[in-house]
Amino acid sequence: MSMVAIDLAGISKRYGDKLVVDGLSLSVASGECFGLLGPNGAGKSTIARMVLGMTSPDAGQITVLGVPVPARARLARRRIGVVPQFDNLDPEFTVRENLLVYGRYFGMSTREVKAVMPSLLEFARLESKVDARVSELSGGMKRRLTLARALINDPQLLVMDEPTTGLDPHARHLIWERLRALLARGMTIILTTHFMEEAERLCDRLCVLERGRNIAEGRPHALIDELIGCEVIEIYGGNPHELQSLISPYAQRIEVSGETLFCYASDPEQVRVRLRERTGLRVLQRPPNLEDVFLRLTGREMEK
Ligand SMILES: Nc1ncnc2c1ncn2[C@@H]1O[C@H](COP(=O)(O)OP(=O)(O)OP(=O)(O)O)[C@@H](O)[C@H]1O
Ligand SMILES: [Mg+2]
Repeated sequence: MSMVAIDLAGISKRYGDKLVVDGLSLSVASGECFGLLGPNGAGKSTIARMVLGMTSPDAGQITVLGVPVPARARLARRRIGVVPQFDNLDPEFTVRENLLVYGRYFGMSTREVKAVMPSLLEFARLESKVDARVSELSGGMKRRLTLARALINDPQLLVMDEPTTGLDPHARHLIWERLRALLARGMTIILTTHFMEEAERLCDRLCVLERGRNIAEGRPHALIDELIGCEVIEIYGGNPHELQSLISPYAQRIEVSGETLFCYASDPEQVRVRLRERTGLRVLQRPPNLEDVFLRLTGREMEK
C-alpha cells in the first residue's frame, strides 16, 4: 500500500471568474489525520469534493489511495468513507433502511449490512432509533447517523466535512474518542472543521486556507509555538481602545475583536499589574491555543 494516502499537486479550481482553489499542493500520509481549516468560503468543501472526484480541478493532479482522481474516482471511493458538510440521508426511510440502501452502493448484501449494523448503531449511539424515520431524528442524531454510515464499507480513508457541526458537547466528545480509536487502528482521516479544539485534539497536521491558498501548515502545537508562543490575556468589560494604550508598553502584540481585547504577553504579570486598579474588568489569562493561530492568520482586526 502507498504511504501517501492523498496527494494534491498544483490544484486550482474556478467557479465562473472566481478562483476558489489557487495552486494548492499538499499530501496526507496514510495513518495520518489532516485538518483543513479556514474561514467560510476558503475552499475547504471544494477541496474535499475534489478528493472524492465529485468536482474536477481546472489544473493539477490528484491521487487518492494510489489512484488518479477524478479519472478513477469510482475505484478510490470504494475504500473511502464520506461525511458531507450537509447530511444527505433519505428522510422518508428509517435508520435501518438508510444503512441498507447505503450498503447497497458498495455492493453489500442485506445480510452483510445487518452484520455490521449493531457496531454502526453503537458508534453513533443510535441503538434505540433503528426503526425511527430520519425525518423524526434531531439534527445531531442525523449527523451521528451520517458519521456511522461513512464506516459501512470498512474504509481505509475518511473524508469528513465538518463532522461534528451540530453535535452537543457530549456527542462531540464521544465522536472524538471514536475517531481517535479509528486512527489508532490505522485509519487515515482528512477533515474540515471550525472547532479549533477538534483540530488540536485530532489532527497530526493541518493547514489553514485563505481564499484557496495554503497560508500555514504544520503540527498544531508547532503552529501555536511558532505563531503565538506566549500567554494570552483576554480582557473585557472596559473600553478596549482605552485599555490598549494602558497596557501596550508591556505587550508583544494586542488585538481588539469586538469588545474583547487580546493581549499577547511574555510577561503577563506586568500587564495584570496595570489592570489591577481598574474595576469591572474581566481578565482571563490562558496559554495560547489554535484559535489564536487561526485568528492571527485569518485576521482579527490587527491593532498593533
Ligand atoms: N457549485 C458552486 N458554484 C459556484 N460557486 C461555488 C460552488 N461551490 C462553492 N462555490 C464558491 O467557492 C468558494 C468556496 O466554497 P467552499 O464551499 O469550498 O468553502 P468552505 O471553505 O467549505 O466554506 P464553509 O466553511 O462556509 O463551509 C465560495 O466562494 C463559494 O461561494
Ligand atoms: Mg464547507
